[in-house]
Amino acid sequence: MFTKEKLDYKAIALPDRSDMSDAQALEAARTHLAFMRKRHSVRDFAPTPVPREIIDLAIAAAGSAPSGANHQPWHFVAISNSGVKHQIRLAAEEEEEKFYAGGAGDEWIKALEPIGTDASKPHLDIAPWLIVIFAQRWGAFADGTRYKNYYVPESVGIATGFLISALHHAGLTCLTHTPNPMKFLNSLLDRPASEKPVMILAVGHPATEAVVPEVAKLKKPLGEILSVFD
Ligand SMILES: Cc1cc2nc3c(=O)[nH]c(=O)nc-3n(C[C@H](O)[C@H](O)[C@H](O)COP(=O)(O)O)c2cc1C
Repeated sequence: MFTKEKLDYKAIALPDRSDMSDAQALEAARTHLAFMRKRHSVRDFAPTPVPREIIDLAIAAAGSAPSGANHQPWHFVAISNSGVKHQIRLAAEEEEEKFYAGGAGDEWIKALEPIGTDASKPHLDIAPWLIVIFAQRWGAFADGTRYKNYYVPESVGIATGFLISALHHAGLTCLTHTPNPMKFLNSLLDRPASEKPVMILAVGHPATEAVVPEVAKLKKPLGEILSVFD
């Protein structure tokens, strides 16, 4: 993406500016909070297809996220092909079986109990799209020489947050799924060994009978997650 010739600093006028009053901003912040509280991780998907363009636009929104030195150290692979989804399911379930059989350790398994998850991952077949997010430890100039990426986990985490919000905004639901380990995704999806698979997002519409764990609705109150000096 970068060329060695384009690395000099040049300022341009701020392209976009919000002109909301405080009252409008307050209203917007309230509306946004209410909307974000309607996002739920869903594990039961309807097989209803989702047009590719919605996925493209949501990933473009993710790609607009801030990143260390603007290196954008991410790559997204979107899969609707049922054969590839099934291969991912088989490989993920193989890892999940080892994980739930003791690989995770007792404390981790105990922490997952209220979420009600197990090694079976039918959503990987049923959700119309899987988006696999890869983190890039380094990038490459057009001539093939490498440059280091900075704050990679932070940048990819923010981009993933943008993606989840964009999907929610488009009326879709998703599940952040992290089989452990995930290295099988590099060979299945033909990504270089230098990229680290970070997560699989299963994306689609919820099944009519979809349920969520009750504990997932318990979010820490503001007073617990916020300290203010004013
Ligand atoms: C980094 C990360 C990894 C997760 N991995 C899994 C997973 O492997 N399987 C799963 O069912 N849910 C997974 N989740 C979803 C969480 O269980 C879920 O976000 C949590 O229970 C809160 O529910 P909510 O997303 O509906 O607010 C993961 C979430 C995050 C942020």
